[in-house]
Amino acid sequence: MYGQYYLLVFFCLRVGAVVTPTIPQSPEQQAYATILKALADVKQSRVNLAAQVTRSREQFDTINGQLRYFEDSCICGRNNTVAFNSFLSKNAANFGIQQPIYFDNITLNLGNGYDTRHGVFRAPRNGTYAFSTSVTTPASNQIAVEIVKNGEQLVQLRTLNDYMWSMATNVVNVYLIKGDDVWVRHSAIGDANALSVDDGLYTSFSGFLIHT
Ligand SMILES: *[C@@H]1O[C@H](CO)[C@@H](O)[C@H](O)[C@H]1NC(C)=O
Ligand SMILES: *[C@@H]1O[C@H](CO)[C@@H](O)[C@H](O)[C@H]1NC(C)=O
Ligand SMILES: *[C@@H]1O[C@H](CO)[C@@H](O)[C@H](O)[C@H]1NC(C)=O
Repeated sequence: MYGQYYLLVFFCLRVGAVVTPTIPQSPEQQAYATILKALADVKQSRVNLAAQVTRSREQFDTINGQLRYFEDSCICGRNNTVAFNSFLSKNAANFGIQQPIYFDNITLNLGNGYDTRHGVFRAPRNGTYAFSTSVTTPASNQIAVEIVKNGEQLVQLRTLNDYMWSMATNVVNVYLIKGDDVWVRHSAIGDANALSVDDGLYTSFSGFLIHT
């Protein structure tokens, strides 16, 4: 029965559409056409929705990436703070050349940058850090130490060989890449190899993250 209409349409097209035929439709045909139209709409909606989901996922990934970057680089809370204080718990002496000094009494280690087993600070993230060390030697002793980054000298300091206790302090600011190591070591200078501490607070190594 549709065949008749196709023929009619074909015929009308052939004669140059001079006549615009109004094809009578039965209620069933109208219902069928409506359903086809609705189906086409649903299909189009699904295509649009899929495209929207893809766009949203891309936007989400972008925002999530930015968020991770900011979380990593922002010092917005205590959890992101990096700061440590360490001291010698007992006297130490006779350091070898470039021997690391192990500050074993850790009173603060926010961000866990300071490795409590080896006395080495490892940068938990990129940023500018400040470090400070103080050494104290007893009378008639002298020591030279340095703060190093991955084994490269940052600052040096030395105490006097005096008839009394002698103390030296130095501070350095340095940009570190995550994973860079900073520690204090006895320098290569051939001084008397004594390092002493009184009540735990005279000889220290500390540092903190200034900015990422
Ligand atoms: C800090 O981090 C710890 C563990 O990573 C978490 O359990 C705690 O809820 C965090 N505190 C704040 C204030 O975000
Ligand atoms: C570590 O230092 C703290 C703070 O000065 C002190 O109270 C504590 O007794 C020290 N611990 C040791 C083992 O020296
Ligand atoms: C840290 O710095 C390194 C070297 O410049 C870089 O490759 C890395 O992407 C940086 N990390 C962050 C989180 O910025």
